[in-house]
Amino acid sequence: MLQIFSDPSAVAEYVSAALIAKIQSKPDAVLGLATGGTMEPIYARFIDQARQSGLDVSRLTSFNLDEYVGLSADHPKSYSVYMREHLFRHLAFDAARLHLLDGLAQDPAEHCQAYAAKLRACGGIDLQLLGVGGNGHIGFNEPGTAFDCPCHVVELAEQTRIDNRRFFAAGATVPASAMTLGLAEIMAAREILLVATGESKAQIVAEWYRRDVTETVPFTILKRHPRTTMILDEAAASLLPDEVSRQCVVGVAG
Ligand code: GLP
Repeated sequence: MLQIFSDPSAVAEYVSAALIAKIQSKPDAVLGLATGGTMEPIYARFIDQARQSGLDVSRLTSFNLDEYVGLSADHPKSYSVYMREHLFRHLAFDAARLHLLDGLAQDPAEHCQAYAAKLRACGGIDLQLLGVGGNGHIGFNEPGTAFDCPCHVVELAEQTRIDNRRFFAAGATVPASAMTLGLAEIMAAREILLVATGESKAQIVAEWYRRDVTETVPFTILKRHPRTTMILDEAAASLLPDEVSRQCVVGVAG
């Protein structure tokens, strides 16, 4: 399913409402959470809506998708700090149920296995939120990743390190490797919402649309997932064929 909204705030409204509906119907849901610029307005809107509706988030479990190898949980650019700042500290989550990969794990490969095992023990993901990298990666599953790959350590693609440089201070080095849930765990999620906003995603979204499922563009695998919604704004959808855009525009700026 493909849905196109006018802009990132209309996208945020929709995704936030979908999250709230999921949590209301299953207060002990397991959420798969993502980071990145795309998620920031979504988490901000979710926090507002959750407060307004008095949503109970204390029984939720979450597993984050990925983390840079070498960054501690209090490094300002770690995804741990991102999640604390953009979501966790704002609502009454149960910290014991919030799972993140540890960038300082002594043995990252073993840590990935343990993380995947913990996720299985929690019953897998009910609802997975995904952004997409400029090269089509999801989590940090870079082009060429085998579709059956479980949680693993990955050397980041050059384009990913360039794209993510904007989050780091001038002169700081973007880590060369990361840990990520694999396409295996992502595809096992019972429902997936992939979000892409902005012109910088237009090309890869058009490629996703045009191409068959291929390891070269990791998020094409979502075409095989029975309950995935692709949620775009008009800028990210701008290179899709006109007839697709016309059929799918469902939201207008508020
Ligand atoms: C990062 C993350 C992904 C994220 C993607 C898009 O590298 N590992 O999980 O979805 O890139 O990020 P952004 O939303 O900032 O474009």
